[in-house]
Amino acid sequence: MSSQFLSPCFSYKKSNLYIENLSVNEVAETVKTPFYLYSAAQIKANIAHLQSALSDVLPDDHYTVCYACKALNNVAIMRLIGQQGCGADIVSSGELTRASQAGIAHDKIVFSGVGKSREEIAHALQAGIRQINVESGAELKLIESVAQEMAMAAPVVFRLNPDVKAGAHEKISTGQKENKFGLEAKAIKDLYRYAEDSSHLTPRGISLHIGSQLIDMSPFDTAYKIAADFVTELRSAGHSPDTIDLGGGIGIIYDQEDKPDLSTYAALVAKHIAPLGLHMIFEPGRMIVGDAGLLISKVMYIKETDHKSFLILDAGMNDLLRPALYDSFHPIIALQTTENEEHRLFDIVGPVCESADVFGKNISLPRNITANSYVAITGAGAYGATMSSNYNARDITAEVLVSDSRFDIIRRPINIEDQLSFENTPEYLISG
Ligand SMILES: Cc1ncc(COP(=O)(O)O)c(C=O)c1O
Repeated sequence: MSSQFLSPCFSYKKSNLYIENLSVNEVAETVKTPFYLYSAAQIKANIAHLQSALSDVLPDDHYTVCYACKALNNVAIMRLIGQQGCGADIVSSGELTRASQAGIAHDKIVFSGVGKSREEIAHALQAGIRQINVESGAELKLIESVAQEMAMAAPVVFRLNPDVKAGAHEKISTGQKENKFGLEAKAIKDLYRYAEDSSHLTPRGISLHIGSQLIDMSPFDTAYKIAADFVTELRSAGHSPDTIDLGGGIGIIYDQEDKPDLSTYAALVAKHIAPLGLHMIFEPGRMIVGDAGLLISKVMYIKETDHKSFLILDAGMNDLLRPALYDSFHPIIALQTTENEEHRLFDIVGPVCESADVFGKNISLPRNITANSYVAITGAGAYGATMSSNYNARDITAEVLVSDSRFDIIRRPINIEDQLSFENTPEYLISG
């Protein structure tokens, strides 16, 4: 039994879904559902695949892969990724702390995002990260003033908005004029000059990130050409950038998509960017962890109405927000099934009190599936656990990492006792 959306580290053996050399059912019998389940081997394979495509066209010391840890920032996962030679792309002080705890070298950390606070900038400068990617003139001034207080020069890179449409959904498209991200070329030219004249700023180059879940590589072709031309303009204006940060965005197969071709991507980088002779930074997130994770859930009820058969799971939109937020589809499979088993269609929903709490409509699953059976929601490694919440006062889900035939709980559930421990009811409400 094979499905193109299942990455090689997941397979059915004798009707049982396996992750590496471990039966997923075995884990589900031990760990309380719902929980995220990740394959270490798949994460390593994804990184190796990217590194090999880039190494085919670029010298190894000309680029750094800075994993965009917003996709999945569990410290154990980040340590695994760091051990494969990656740095990190962070978007908050919290992610910097996570990267540090994961042992990621600070000179391989880049700081992205449109709303960095004074404290976050100070934390980043104190830690000595490689660069801060600047998103506005006001932010540049704040970075300068923090660096001045710290008697240092802050390494900055300017995020270009190339006005290129990209990304599988409008909410993951970031490189167009109407998006809040990046700066127009003209504004960067002025800010570059300003930074060069400041003794508390060191301008190092430009960055761009046009969107996420790109299957077709042509938006990269357009955007990287624009970026390369802009570097040439900066040089003509007398500047000497040494870095170009090419962002992330490479997609994965969630369902029926074609497999994004990494060698095409690498060839575009070789064509437009490599000749510039700059150090290149890549910020992949989804393609490193997306297909390496499953959300494992138990069927709570089967509810039959005149119109529908609903499968009510113990996982909800608070655990995996992507379907509700981006209308995204994650194939759902039974942990135990046989090749020729009869199937029927279900609407698969969670227990959260929202109509948006739907994982899929008319999904084919074994006809005889019952309450207490387990299912896996696939492609859940990226933007799954990191976007989860405790909405409806539900636990924040556990995370489990598999390596070969062992599994380790890398985050226990954040339960109601944990949540209540942060709250306080004023005395007057109790006594009055
Ligand atoms: C600046 C930046 N870099 C990298 C990424 C990672 O993108 P992806 O997970 O699509 O590779 C994002 C995602 O939002 C981003 O905003």
